[in-house]
Amino acid sequence: MMLKKMRKKRRQLTSIALATGIALSGLSFQTGVFAAEQEAPKTEQTIKNIVPQLVDKASIEAVIAAMTVEEKAKLVVGVGMPGMTIPKLPVQGAVGGTPAIERLGIPAMYYADGPAGLRISPTRPGESKTYYTTAFPIATSLASTWDTSVVNKVGQAQGNEVKEYGVDVLLAPALNLHRNILTGRNFEYFSEDPLIAGKMTAALVNGVQSNGVGATIKHYAANNQETNRFTIDTIVSERALRELYLKGFEIAVKESHPKAVMSSYNLLNGTPASQNEELLTTVLRGDWGYDGYVMTDWFAGTDPVAQMRAGNDQIMPGFPQSSERIANAVKNGSLDEAILDRNVKNILNFVVESPSFKNYSHSDNPDLQAHAEVARQAAADGMVLLKNNQNALPLQKENKVALFGTAQIETVKGGTGSGDVNAAYTVSIVDGLKHAGYSLHEDLVNQYSNYIGELRQMEEYKIKPSPWGEDFGKEIPVIPEMVLDTNQVEKVQDESDIGVIVIGRNSGEGVDRKNIKGDYLLTDTEKAMIQNVSKAYHDAGKKVAVVLNIGGPVEIASWRDQVDSILLAWQPGQEAGDAVADVLTGAVNPSGKLATTFPVKYEDVPSAENFPGTPAENPTQVVYEEDIYVGYRYYSTFDVKPAYEFGYGLSYTNFDYSNIRVNQGGKFKDQITVFANIKNTGKVSGKEAVQVYVSAPDGKLEKPEIELKAFGKTKELKPNQSELLKFELNAKDLASFDEEKNQWIVEKGVYTVKVGASSENIKGSTTFTVAKDIIVEEVSNSLVPEVEIDRLSKK
Ligand code: BGC
Repeated sequence: MMLKKMRKKRRQLTSIALATGIALSGLSFQTGVFAAEQEAPKTEQTIKNIVPQLVDKASIEAVIAAMTVEEKAKLVVGVGMPGMTIPKLPVQGAVGGTPAIERLGIPAMYYADGPAGLRISPTRPGESKTYYTTAFPIATSLASTWDTSVVNKVGQAQGNEVKEYGVDVLLAPALNLHRNILTGRNFEYFSEDPLIAGKMTAALVNGVQSNGVGATIKHYAANNQETNRFTIDTIVSERALRELYLKGFEIAVKESHPKAVMSSYNLLNGTPASQNEELLTTVLRGDWGYDGYVMTDWFAGTDPVAQMRAGNDQIMPGFPQSSERIANAVKNGSLDEAILDRNVKNILNFVVESPSFKNYSHSDNPDLQAHAEVARQAAADGMVLLKNNQNALPLQKENKVALFGTAQIETVKGGTGSGDVNAAYTVSIVDGLKHAGYSLHEDLVNQYSNYIGELRQMEEYKIKPSPWGEDFGKEIPVIPEMVLDTNQVEKVQDESDIGVIVIGRNSGEGVDRKNIKGDYLLTDTEKAMIQNVSKAYHDAGKKVAVVLNIGGPVEIASWRDQVDSILLAWQPGQEAGDAVADVLTGAVNPSGKLATTFPVKYEDVPSAENFPGTPAENPTQVVYEEDIYVGYRYYSTFDVKPAYEFGYGLSYTNFDYSNIRVNQGGKFKDQITVFANIKNTGKVSGKEAVQVYVSAPDGKLEKPEIELKAFGKTKELKPNQSELLKFELNAKDLASFDEEKNQWIVEKGVYTVKVGASSENIKGSTTFTVAKDIIVEEVSNSLVPEVEIDRLSKK
């Protein structure tokens, strides 16, 4: 109500000013539209009482000049966590926003999570109307599409829901790297590779922001674990920061101009990220030219005044005491008011663009059906076929399918915590196959259904609202896999054509995963299920497929030989079962590839010894000793064979790569183009994700064996159809970071371009030469660790 009144007032004031054409030249503020607190006559006294109003970008300076210190200190502290002592927000389930300052025509704005979709409360007390949103596939699944156009469409749909539900800023996407496979929130993040993370983020942000709402890239930076996330001190070299942990943010800032950046909880080389001026101002704004605003993660940091100084424009969700401390600091001279003004301006720059400011009349009725279709297509495109011996998949239409595993019914749509989404439904794998017209072994489905039903009645396994509040989805205790007896498996086998085993996992915010049975490792019951089902079906000459409904890697190497096919479905969002069915049945030919490595065993992970930090019982510090060797950069350089390498994924068809070449006679000046011709040589249509790796010469700086420098995806190619893909590489793409000189440099020598179907399956290579060192850019000397790091090196 209040807000509506205020908006109306702003409109009136604007028209008064325009109609009266108030002469502004004699006033100290130069721009903007001013409103009289009292009506005409317009005497000198009235003009003195005129209060600037926020009407557009040009009015911001005048509004700031008219703000009291208290008002400024209020604006830089957000409002909002439901359930806290702070006022409830009109959009229920929104987690914060900016306060309104009515006197100056500054409206409130609202923020809500991401990243798998907009997270708001699906119901409101006393209303029968629902406010469900679409649960899209998790970020790891989106990255596995290797298709920025698909991700952009997801962003467009997400942004539309943001706008239509009356939210101004989506607190997503999230792009921390998969430094370690056990990070609890990896499902919210894209990849172990910064190019993929950066490009996917940019595609998503561009989609979201095409609706006129803001996106927030988070969590800046090096927030790669949940264990002690508020207090952990992340120690990492400048080179690893620039080339890996900051790189995706740099790409996203430059290619999509996100309206907001969320600083992270962790300390970075000794200073809390939200109080780290080098991170938030020197690098983000100075080196990269960022012009949006920075907000803290929720309740991050210890010192609001230091946050202001560092360039953390807004403290979320904030407490009144934070405002008091900031205002007092200005008054006692310990905080320069100009800093506060700068931060206020950064926030107001977006306020004037926001739907709330524009009085957008949201429908509360986005086209959920259309978005479900986007979610389903993206989910299917992100699925990765890991194994498919003798074409066990796709399923034949006449196959009778026996589904094993509880996740066939309790299919996991996405992870937990703030990244959960309150969707109206999740299509289970059972329902997906039924929708696709398959006949299932119904007795087995019923048995699983009864088993789950019984367990869910028990106190231990009851589904409850999340302990964080009902807006945060449900707490679903993991139920043990149902024990199968061998006779029963035999009988089911006898009555069906193929066995499909579904293995499910979940994880979420606040806790990291563990290298234990039931998490990274399969439980004994799960292993027995795979073994018994495989034996029964194989003895009868029938096939077995496994569907992995997971958010991050599990151990596969010890059991994969027992089954014919493995489909990595990820956590595919609300349309899960239909999307799984699309791929299992061949309606969609799988074209996803891994954007994160599946190791043979956890101990192979390069950060395994340094995760989640020291001391082991309660880590306070984590040192990134693996340095630049994260993910495939490590496996390829140190010859450690993963279970499934970065970039890996099969198709129901085959592709031939030819004519791999570069232009300019192989001489690099400031740019070079790589070409590859891709032909579908199989029997069905399909798309291929093509990867361009570069092996750079070791000079002063050592280089990983390979680094992904570009990628692309063909269109859907019919059998025998070809497409020529082109990839532009510029000097910055090729550069490494010299931390002694703070320079991005392309060292001279011979560069090998390897075009591949995965990081190990290189289909062809060529070379180009860089005649002399190219200094691409000199940046600030920032974020130097004060602790000695025993860095992994191939030397
Ligand atoms: C998370 C953020 C999220 C915020 C608001 C924090 O706990 O780390 O990603 O946006 O809560 O829900």
